[in-house]
Amino acid sequence: MKELVDRIAVITGAASGIGLATAHRLADEGMHLALADIEGDGLEQAADAIRAKGVDVLARRTDVMSEDAVNDLADATFDRFGGVHVLFNNAGVAATAATLRTRAWEGSLADWDWTMGVNLRGVLHGVRAFVPRMLANGDEGHIVNTASIAGLVSGANPYNVSKHGVVCLTEGMYLDLAEMGSSLSASVLCPGLINTRILEAERNRPSDLGRSPDVAELRTDLQEFAAGFEAALKGGYEPEVVADHVVEGILESRFYLFPAQPEVLGRVDDRFRRLLERSNPTPRS
Ligand SMILES: NC(=O)c1ccc[n+]([C@@H]2O[C@H](COP(=O)([O-])OP(=O)(O)OC[C@H]3O[C@@H](n4cnc5c(N)ncnc54)[C@H](O)[C@@H]3O)[C@@H](O)[C@H]2O)c1
Repeated sequence: MKELVDRIAVITGAASGIGLATAHRLADEGMHLALADIEGDGLEQAADAIRAKGVDVLARRTDVMSEDAVNDLADATFDRFGGVHVLFNNAGVAATAATLRTRAWEGSLADWDWTMGVNLRGVLHGVRAFVPRMLANGDEGHIVNTASIAGLVSGANPYNVSKHGVVCLTEGMYLDLAEMGSSLSASVLCPGLINTRILEAERNRPSDLGRSPDVAELRTDLQEFAAGFEAALKGGYEPEVVADHVVEGILESRFYLFPAQPEVLGRVDDRFRRLLERSNPTPRS
């Protein structure tokens, strides 16, 4: 896409972190926005701050786990703006840092249902609700799906598995759109360590999908891993760095967007080298 001024962007997970930073960045480029998040209060605050920049903002509380809710978001957006040019499927959750290391045969299935429901099905709902109508409009447009570097490295946990799904889904979509000669294209966003509220995601967890155990109840190695990971995220890049990559990816039609620390990217290189050599997965440090 070459032109953003007065075009329309939809952003899920827009009340915090990467979604919020990108909403500000796209408003600064002159785009009008449909903002969605499960957290209504944060969403309204975000919408007010962005309206003050002089762009039109629709704010709609939406749970991306619900297909109906995402379809309603699409109806409301097309009613208000008549079209959509950028779709940023970004809402995501990580139950707790410890669940990133919990063994697949030990953790709760509810962690899998919730994480896959938001991170993978949520993206799929966005794609199915918006892309057919974006195609029908015939305008130039771009879809950005948020995965993670976790979608490119090993991990027998709900977060890594969900993000592998988003990478695979988005690569396939990119190829489908290119084969069709469509005026839409796609990018997959794979951030490294970013200083956001992702590890406080449990505040929005549906009550019927249980709760992760308290860290104090876990094995010592999991407690140590969780503490180290939380510290690493706090020391990570600010979300504005990611927003810059998103805008650049849209304007330059780049598929792989990797706002990630060199040492984190090194793990991806090592995984793919081992895979090509048919050697065994990288041992964890
Ligand atoms: N922070 C990181 O280090 C990092 C790294 C790689 C990828 N990501 C991904 O970036 C995306 C954004 O996360 P963030 O780091 O900005 O975290 P964040 O918690 O600051 O923002 C995520 C937003 O998504 C919203 N959300 C959660 N569940 C939702 C649901 N069911 N429906 C609608 N909205 C929902 C939250 O309310 C929150 O506002 C996520 O997909 C995350 O997995 C984050």
